[in-house]
Amino acid sequence: MDISRVGVVGCGLMGSGIAEIAAKSGFQVRVRELNEEFLEAGRNRIKKSLDRAVVKEKLSAEDRDAAWERFSFTTEGAALADCDLVIEAIVEELEAKNELFGELDELCGEGTIFASNTSSLTITDMAAATMRADRFVGLHFFNPVPVMKLVEVVRTIATSDETSDRAFAFAKALGKTPIAAKDNSGFVVNLLLVPYMLDAIRHLERGVATVEDIDTGMAVGCGHPMGPFLLCDFVGIDTLYKISEIMYDEYREERYAPPPLLKRIVALKRYGRKSGQGFYDWSGEKPVPLPI
Ligand code: 3HC
Repeated sequence: MDISRVGVVGCGLMGSGIAEIAAKSGFQVRVRELNEEFLEAGRNRIKKSLDRAVVKEKLSAEDRDAAWERFSFTTEGAALADCDLVIEAIVEELEAKNELFGELDELCGEGTIFASNTSSLTITDMAAATMRADRFVGLHFFNPVPVMKLVEVVRTIATSDETSDRAFAFAKALGKTPIAAKDNSGFVVNLLLVPYMLDAIRHLERGVATVEDIDTGMAVGCGHPMGPFLLCDFVGIDTLYKISEIMYDEYREERYAPPPLLKRIVALKRYGRKSGQGFYDWSGEKPVPLPI
């Protein structure tokens, strides 16, 4: 495959996971963040995850060191100029993404493919902000990226066959299972998963059962690895809220509308596991449901 240098822009939960698996798979990885503080946090997250993989005996210490050698970290867009592929994993806001892609479009060479890890925006809306709509795809990863095998490869009506083929080959080279998705908000998985999570919140509002019992119901009754409220906390309550607003704006269907309780929890900055509280309190060893 002719991709060897991969840029990852945004090193939060998703970006750090994407950068980690790319480096572990042998790609040279350039990570870009907005400022030194975010860069340092991202660098630490990747280092911690690689070290954990060694402790868990999933990676040898030599392979970890070799992966670490493949990283470079920067706050400069110009450092991505000669990347073969740049994957964006920044905040879920079209304006911010388009500003970034506009900047990268001027800096990067003709051959660079642009990809977005957006959860709910359309790829076309970003591709249209550049002069390379034919070399623009969606590469949608799942959290936690090192564990979840799926990647949705999203092509727009402007994406070339060659770009789509290279994106598929890249996902396979990461050891992932790619599926082809059309460029509609939510692609395949979030189209089904987001209304499910929002429905769970609506059932909670109606008093159908407690957070814990709804979660137990879906985990034990249906064999899901975690129930919908644990999953909300895991994905991030703020992220779910943004996704649902974007999907509701796109489809104007009630099932995508954010329930009032979701708004209240976001207002309290209870963003889920990452902030210590969401539907659950995450400060102890095990998550404990909070009174709603
Ligand atoms: N990084 C690396 N490895 C991790 C990890 C991480 N962040 N989190 C867990 N793991 C590994 C563990 O090391 C463990 O590996 P082992 O079995 O070889 O030791 C394995 O995953 C299982 O982890 P745990 O034993 O700690 O815990 P669980 O058995 O509860 O599994 C889970 C954790 C994998 C997160 C599982 O609960 C799960 O699959 N949950 C559902 C996740 C999901 O649905 N993700 C998709 C969210 S939607 C999304 O991302 C789209 C977005 O657009 C919204």
